[in-house]
Amino acid sequence: MSEKFNVPTELPRYPRSMWRTGTTLPTFPEMKEDIKVDVAVIGAGIAGVTTAYLLSLEGYKVALVDAGRILEGTTGFTTAKISAQHGLVYSEFLENFRPEIARSYYEANIEGLNFIREMVQTHNIDCDFKEETSYLYTNQEDKLDDLRKEFDAYQELGIPGQWHDSLPIPVKAKGAISMPGQAQFNPIKYLKFFVEKFIENGGLIYENTTIEGAVYGKPIEAYTIDGKYRFYCNEMVVTTHYPFWNVPAGYFSRLNIERSYAIVVKPETTFHGGMYLNIDDEKRSLRSATYEGEEVLIVGGENHVPGKSDNTFDHYLELEKFAGSTFGASEIPFRWSAQDITTLDKIPYIGPLSSDYPFTFIATGFNKWGMTNGTFAALLLRDNIIRRSNPHMNTFNPGRFNDKSMSQNIVTGLKMAKEMIAGKFAGAHEKIDNLEPDEGGLVRHNGKKVGAYRDPEGELFLVDTTCTHMGCETAWNEAERSWDCPCHGSRFSYKGEVLEGPATDPLERIEK
Ligand SMILES: Cc1cc2nc3c(=O)[nH]c(=O)nc-3n(C[C@H](O)[C@H](O)[C@H](O)COP(=O)(O)OP(=O)(O)OC[C@H]3O[C@@H](n4cnc5c(N)ncnc54)[C@H](O)[C@@H]3O)c2cc1C
Ligand code: FES
Repeated sequence: MSEKFNVPTELPRYPRSMWRTGTTLPTFPEMKEDIKVDVAVIGAGIAGVTTAYLLSLEGYKVALVDAGRILEGTTGFTTAKISAQHGLVYSEFLENFRPEIARSYYEANIEGLNFIREMVQTHNIDCDFKEETSYLYTNQEDKLDDLRKEFDAYQELGIPGQWHDSLPIPVKAKGAISMPGQAQFNPIKYLKFFVEKFIENGGLIYENTTIEGAVYGKPIEAYTIDGKYRFYCNEMVVTTHYPFWNVPAGYFSRLNIERSYAIVVKPETTFHGGMYLNIDDEKRSLRSATYEGEEVLIVGGENHVPGKSDNTFDHYLELEKFAGSTFGASEIPFRWSAQDITTLDKIPYIGPLSSDYPFTFIATGFNKWGMTNGTFAALLLRDNIIRRSNPHMNTFNPGRFNDKSMSQNIVTGLKMAKEMIAGKFAGAHEKIDNLEPDEGGLVRHNGKKVGAYRDPEGELFLVDTTCTHMGCETAWNEAERSWDCPCHGSRFSYKGEVLEGPATDPLERIEK
């Protein structure tokens, strides 16, 4: 690795998910003809795969389609704690909503956890499922009041939890709340079971098939890039993480997105169990896992808006320092980063797109808790489609709007305008000839500012860095070798290909 990035040799050179590396999934064809089904499920992460499976059990003819390989979105790069302990959400919900809403959110997430547990036990799914206690902690004096308020919220809502003055592991804490009976697993091994069963039930899966838009008639027509092929369906479920359209329902101004980081460490000391998350300025998350028969630790944290970090390698270095000084780290076999979405009020949008689009359903905004929220989303979407009532429908209704969300629309619009303008005037730091192998950034080329990356073999790749979604400027991500957009989180490879939406079109390639 180039010394310019100051990367120690302990960190793997390229990001790689432990879950994806350890499990081989079946492959599926690209869509090459028009297809008629009862339900098209767009996006094969935990929400899409679970929904498709549940609908196939109900006797629906279902097609599941993904722009890339299945389970290669955020679900392939999660830390996979299955928990209803989600930071400080319960005290925040009690401040903003009636207690019934906060309780409904908790119960829905416990339903997600119980569904996963039941599936693992009933079908004997080999996915390293393990019951654990969750801990939320702080080591900052100025955060103790927030943590106490969260504990008070547990008591008001009847959520099982206990206060502690320290943690059972060698991480300093001034206070902690434990939540018993939570769990962890290997999400890809778990979801592989659903993929196989879905196919056995007559389900269709298409990979490398991007859906670009839809005509909302009867039937709905969901079309691939340039309208080449169509799914004709009575109902459409959009589980693409970020919705792929700008209208209807203006989701792009109602969602915030954040990247975070994980490393897998072979510890030099014994880990005494539990799953941990702090509420401090430097975010840290911890859990154990099994890799090649050995216990390893997944150490996570370090959040930022995509495209908004001076050097993305630094975040891994911070995690490495923390892991090394706390548990010792004899080896770091994996590193990865990923991003997740939060809604304006931190409750996911799950249900019909809006009253104008009653046959199109969405599930997004899991606030980094998609194992339980995403599983519950599948249960709720199934109930929506089979017209079964569900006590949590109103809590998660995507159509909820209030004054706070309208003012956030304006804030988001202003933020985007700022990104567009700032990006256009950002300087190009490098001359093309100065780029080392495996280095990228903005350069001047034929009098214009362009994005450049020189691969390890010396080949140069030039792109126009203007995001094809809505025109914000993307920024270079050193650790992933990608161009990331700060506005709604679209990401592009150094060749310009779409890695993550909402963009569906690649960056424009520039001639050398
Ligand atoms: C670093 C990190 C750690 C996390 N840790 C935890 C944790 O410990 N516990 C927890 O509960 N949650 C955790 N989360 C959150 C959780 O991983 C996510 O909420 C969840 O995986 C999202 O699942 P999904 O199905 O919505 O999206 P994804 O898994 O991203 O799936 C969406 C799919 O849609 C496809 N797609 C996108 N656009 C299109 C299109 N136009 N056409 C066709 N297909 C398309 C994509 O290719 C992708 O495969 C974490 C998140 C991050 C970033
Ligand atoms: S402008 Fe929306 S993701 Fe880039």
